[in-house]
Amino acid sequence: MAVVSTREIVGRAFHERYGVAAINVVNDVSLAAVLAAAEEMRAPVIVQTSVKTVQQLGLDVLWAMWVEMTRGIKVPVALHLDHCPERELISACLAKGWNSVLFDASKLSVEENRRQCIEVVAEARGYGATVEGEIEGFKRVEEMTGQEVAEEQTLDTAVDFIRATGVDIFAPAIGNAHGMYKTTPTLDSQRVTDIVERTGVPVALHGGTGMTAAQFSDLIARGCAKINISTALKIAYMKSGYDYMSEHPGEYDPPSLFRVQRAAVLEMAKHHIQLFGSSGKAGDQAA
Ligand code: 13P
Repeated sequence: MAVVSTREIVGRAFHERYGVAAINVVNDVSLAAVLAAAEEMRAPVIVQTSVKTVQQLGLDVLWAMWVEMTRGIKVPVALHLDHCPERELISACLAKGWNSVLFDASKLSVEENRRQCIEVVAEARGYGATVEGEIEGFKRVEEMTGQEVAEEQTLDTAVDFIRATGVDIFAPAIGNAHGMYKTTPTLDSQRVTDIVERTGVPVALHGGTGMTAAQFSDLIARGCAKINISTALKIAYMKSGYDYMSEHPGEYDPPSLFRVQRAAVLEMAKHHIQLFGSSGKAGDQAA
């Protein structure tokens, strides 16, 4: 199977300046749809699991789904644990075989974050796994004040953190947020350029849902090689289900509903893969 390291997938995208869709799945239907989109588009993809999803489905069940659904897959894929502040869960996912983790200690001081992140990187290396780091945390769009850029750590602090910890991917706050933006966000794209120039480390773009095609291509050109999409999947999944039920009153056939939801998630994932320029990039990474 072509499950490969996240570092390899992101490294090639960074080098060739395209973006890899890193999509948060919520269950078996959405996982199957995202993997199918990657295969249809001949694209690498990163499947992300939130702490909530891991806890809800159970780590063993989620892992079994991943192993079975990626068996024989012909494109490079990796499994990533998104925003996890809990060291125990990080250790459990790494031991099970997750390809990468985002250690989210953004609520701690940068010093304590750095100290613990060094430990996480050492632990991950033992499994050949990849680590993404962050120091600022991301708001949800509902909490945005318009002052996000002012809340960033300094560039020197970010660069010191990346160098000291050895993280493979860094996720800076650039005015982005999780959720659906009410208006197009104003992004500090220069910060991506500065971080990439000073460290050579690929940047993860969070809060991808709702950014414009022009923002994506600008940020990818600057070094955003991993682009996180979560809200768009939730919308595709929920809205298609709601529409289907509205159009078929009194029909209570779950497989019909799941088929529609799978199709909606598949289209959403293909759309973003196309937008990020990773279509056809599976190349010789595929098994
Ligand atoms: P959105 O929910 O805005 O797509 O952001 C996803 C994300 O950054 C997950 O870490």
